[in-house]
Amino acid sequence: MASNDIRISVRDLVKTFGTQTVLTGVNLDIRAGETVVIMGGSGCGKTTLLRLLIGSHTPTSGTIELLGQDISKLTGDESDALKRQMGILFQSGALFQSMSIGDNVALPLQEHTDLAPEIIDIQVKMKLELVGLRPHANKLPSQISGGMMKRAGLARAMAMDPKILFYDEPSAGLDPVTSAEIDQLILELTRSFGMTSVVVTHEMDSAFTIADRMVMLDGGRVLKVDTREEFDRIRQLPESEAALLSLDEQIVYQFLRGAANGPITRRRSADDYREDLLGMDAAGNETADRRPSGARY
Ligand SMILES: Nc1ncnc2c1ncn2[C@@H]1O[C@H](COP(=O)(O)OP(=O)(O)OP(=O)(O)O)[C@@H](O)[C@H]1O
Ligand SMILES: [Mg+2]
Repeated sequence: MASNDIRISVRDLVKTFGTQTVLTGVNLDIRAGETVVIMGGSGCGKTTLLRLLIGSHTPTSGTIELLGQDISKLTGDESDALKRQMGILFQSGALFQSMSIGDNVALPLQEHTDLAPEIIDIQVKMKLELVGLRPHANKLPSQISGGMMKRAGLARAMAMDPKILFYDEPSAGLDPVTSAEIDQLILELTRSFGMTSVVVTHEMDSAFTIADRMVMLDGGRVLKVDTREEFDRIRQLPESEAALLSLDEQIVYQFLRGAANGPITRRRSADDYREDLLGMDAAGNETADRRPSGARY
């Protein structure tokens, strides 16, 4: 169950790549034991936020505290110690193809602990059992299905008994039943180990199954952070009531319902059309010189 113990604290986080500002000032607190789902359209900055949280990108400005420590102020050793308390399930599972499933799960334990091989072996069996893969320990990643690879990735992410687990699109590319199985696994693991989970997904069924709270990102900012129940209430609103929501909530509404019409599509077509045809953005500012090069007029 979530408590008031803050595990992740993000303040005024900005991230730019070259001239592109991807995150424009994100604030977010994630409490111990809760599962927070980060969602938003493609390219809105979800993976970038996740990478910043796990320390694989450096913020342009703003701060990130994990387990009470400002990650920009850590020494190498402190940062390694912190990373041992975090598990990460990458989108692809990111298994080493030349190593068996068992060896993939053993790797973090071999690299980060002084445990004896027999103990590591027991740990690996326990983690594989949790995800239902113990009979497949000796197979290579190429010899198992996509859903099994996700589960193997989860067993490896869990190897060090992390306090925080990060998932990037855990059910992407899986059939609905396998994807529901992964959701159940995430729920079980989070509940039985009291872990804090941060899950990036745009699969709405999955998000509503696993989330305690949800974060909607749009254009690099947080549009809404609230409980699953509140997001569900918005999702269930009839269209007549949704029309009365704030613009931010109308964006949330369209996203949650996967509707073809709404502020997201209106904005997109306005931007694209004006800019493509006229060299202007939606506000009518000139964005580019559209004359063909060499044209004389
Ligand atoms: N390393 C990088 N260098 C330059 N630009 C990047 C880099 N990583 C991400 N971006 C840009 O940042 C924006 C957000 O990318 P990000 O991967 O965070 O989106 P996302 O919300 O995860 O999208 P998706 O749902 O498609 O996975 C994109 O425009 C992308 O091109
Ligand atoms: Mg992504």
